[in-house]
Amino acid sequence: MPDGMKPFYCTALGSAYRADALDALRRLETGSVALVVTSPPYALVTKKAYGNPATGDYAAWFLPIAREIRRILRPDGSFVLNLGGSWTPGQPTRSLYHYRLLLALVDEVGFHLAQECYWYNPAKMPAPAEWVCVRRVRVKDSVEPVWWFGKGPHPQADNRQVLRPYGPAMVKLMERGQKPSTRPSGHRVRAGWAAGGHGGSIPPNLLSFGAADGAGEDLADHLLVTGQGGAKDAYVRACRAAGLPVHPARFPPALPAFFIRLCTVPGDVVVDPFAGSNTTGAVAEALGRRWIAIEARADYLRSSRLRWGREAGPAKHAA
Ligand SMILES: C[S@@+](CC[C@H](N)C(=O)[O-])C[C@H]1O[C@@H](n2cnc3c(N)ncnc32)[C@H](O)[C@@H]1O
Repeated sequence: MPDGMKPFYCTALGSAYRADALDALRRLETGSVALVVTSPPYALVTKKAYGNPATGDYAAWFLPIAREIRRILRPDGSFVLNLGGSWTPGQPTRSLYHYRLLLALVDEVGFHLAQECYWYNPAKMPAPAEWVCVRRVRVKDSVEPVWWFGKGPHPQADNRQVLRPYGPAMVKLMERGQKPSTRPSGHRVRAGWAAGGHGGSIPPNLLSFGAADGAGEDLADHLLVTGQGGAKDAYVRACRAAGLPVHPARFPPALPAFFIRLCTVPGDVVVDPFAGSNTTGAVAEALGRRWIAIEARADYLRSSRLRWGREAGPAKHAA
């Protein structure tokens, strides 16, 4: 836990802190964390309620935080960064701010890019409205980068923890058996390759978390973490019932769940320095990982605590 800070609330496996990300990260022990998974404020043209850095200043703002993240990771630790793209103000062209940051995270901070993933989110708004809906000169943006970095080149990972159900074609192939064949590319497929399967299909790096993907439902019994958002989300209902604000930019629970399963084992420590509604902490706890959440706003922390019902310990740091 961050040295000298009192938690806002505690649960069986984690604690949440009301703090500035950089300040709290500086107080965490070097080499103590298996995974940092987070979605910081993006550099948006239209700002959210919690404020967003400008595209031009973004790397200058984020790099000191990234250095602390790298310091607290174990040598085999991972950093997963969900950072949406942005537009040039007043123009129908894309900003390159996040690509500049990506290069700096590798070239200046020393991270290794383990894999670039993309979160397919068809529920994104058709924005900027001027270019997409009014002038009709751009199409709807529906992917967000999710970059997976290692502190070193070989972060702990096991893709057998994130297998998905086989599709109908593979099920058929397993039933009838694979004959030896040569693909048009020249690749030779050996007989029996598909026999019995390998426990599930290896997911692609285009991450899709819709209901059809079966992502996250298994966490439903544990905590208020189901759903993609909207009125059906148990977290949203709990916030409304308590008269507390609903966080406006949550990621789906299945997103941190994917990387927590892929990159950590039970008992490992997972940190989210821009925790918002603490989706990460709730999912980490449901999966038996320890967690630390850092969030600047007390109102978001109060709402996030509802994910634990009555189980979260009292707020020790009234704000
Ligand atoms: C995109 S949201 C994260 C949402 C989160 N992934 C979830 O599922 O709820 C970013 C959060 O970072 C918080 N934030 C912004 N600047 C911060 C800072 N310097 N330190 C800590 N938190 C900060 C904002 O208040 C906001 O809640």
